[in-house]
Amino acid sequence: MENNYLLGIDVGTSAVKTVLFDESGTVKASAALAYPLYQPQNGWAEQRPEDWRDAVFVTIREVVEHSGLNPYEIKGIGISGQMHGLVMLDEKGEVIRPSIIWCDQRTAEEVEDMLKLMPREKWIAITANPPLTGWTAAKILWVRKHEPENYARCRHILLPKDYIRYVLTGVFATEVSDASGMQLLDVPARNWSEEVLQALDIDRRLLGDVYESCEVTGTLTRKAAERTGLTAETKVVGGAGDNAAAAVGTGVVRDGTAFTTIGTSGVVFAHSSKVAIDPEGRVHTCCCAVPGAWHVMGVTQGAGLSLKWFKDQFCQDYSARAEKEGKDVYDWINRDVKEAPAGSDRLIYLPYLMGERTPHLDPDCRGVFFGLSAIHQRKHLLRAVMEGVAYSLCDCNEILQEMGIKVDGMMACGGGGKSPVWRQMLADLYRCPVKTVRQEEGPALGAAILAGVGCGIYPDVETACDRLMEEEDSLGPVTENVLVYERYHRLYQKLYRSLQEDFKELGRL
Ligand code: XUL
Repeated sequence: MENNYLLGIDVGTSAVKTVLFDESGTVKASAALAYPLYQPQNGWAEQRPEDWRDAVFVTIREVVEHSGLNPYEIKGIGISGQMHGLVMLDEKGEVIRPSIIWCDQRTAEEVEDMLKLMPREKWIAITANPPLTGWTAAKILWVRKHEPENYARCRHILLPKDYIRYVLTGVFATEVSDASGMQLLDVPARNWSEEVLQALDIDRRLLGDVYESCEVTGTLTRKAAERTGLTAETKVVGGAGDNAAAAVGTGVVRDGTAFTTIGTSGVVFAHSSKVAIDPEGRVHTCCCAVPGAWHVMGVTQGAGLSLKWFKDQFCQDYSARAEKEGKDVYDWINRDVKEAPAGSDRLIYLPYLMGERTPHLDPDCRGVFFGLSAIHQRKHLLRAVMEGVAYSLCDCNEILQEMGIKVDGMMACGGGGKSPVWRQMLADLYRCPVKTVRQEEGPALGAAILAGVGCGIYPDVETACDRLMEEEDSLGPVTENVLVYERYHRLYQKLYRSLQEDFKELGRL
């Protein structure tokens, strides 16, 4: 009997991860390939779409060959990816310029321009969010203003994972969850907003058609089949933005469920069967990958990014040792962090390496270590970095509570979610148990599940999650830490208010 297998591809900020699953969600093979992030100026962030493309081809081929399967058994592909990035293609389908990605903060002026074109309330009513520096629309306006020759050549505007769809299938398309982060979508209606496109003077023909996340958008081109070792019958479904895909991959598909992910960014995400909007725009409302449902999420710009930055700059000895011994450098870091006390002996880190989204929506703020003393060692700084990220995620969670979004359980995922010490900080700050599922693949698994629904292997997303997900671990709050963190978190919040104007001055230097 022929078996069914599914591929999930996650186009992340640090790497592409491609994972092959069987119908029960068990990993058959996986491969990852990293690529650089370019920062041409302070606060700017770009990547080369060609790097994503090459990494996708290499990792699919590796996974298919390693699995030893008959490629006809691999029925479908789901793609998930970093949201908001701008990919521009010319009439031949060639990349025009590097992608300006989600954490880039160059568009403060364009956001002002957008507010002159339409009042904030109207932006919120249509796109469910106020104009945001990291979102795609502001990036399009930036290119139009600063690189008119590039804009004039542009025939297709795509999100990162939708560029990969084009490379695999030749189809220009997107799906509702990722398209929500472009600020061009009528989020309640789940389709492009003519009114927004007109206001911004963006030609609808530049954008692909919008699908639901589990709808089939095309099959592999012969060329893509040859390069990957798959067949031209392999279907590619809509897929989802990385957070909406991670929701499916952790079983967050019904009201009352939520997760926190610590990847390069950090996100607190809650499912909602209704369009719930924060009138202050501090958290985002987007369509989710479950047809007819939405989600609300708060975003910390520099979550795993902060720890990776610190590791790359100040932990080269750990990295070298880990490589020599074939271990994970983060195991050394976690061990160090456990040795420092909650509160890091009066040291607070503000994780604003790339500005901040929730709750400040401030492209100008930057990272801070507050309270440095000669008593502090590297373990204190490492712990403070993790705690700073956890304080920011706690702000996200508090806004969701304020909005009346009921959360019965918090899952954790992403690279940082694997760290028990980081999960403990979240439990202490959220004051609720933080759980994990046995399946660790998050967005890649979510994308594969969506492919399974599109290929008719599962009846719907919720049933697939009920069948596949198994809860693994749960960490509850520790009273002693809760009391410490309550005081530190309050001071953390105050620090932003104290420094807000100074950050602006710093930006003007
Ligand atoms: C969400 C966001 C990030 C990216 C990168 O709004 O910007 O989570 O999707 O992971």
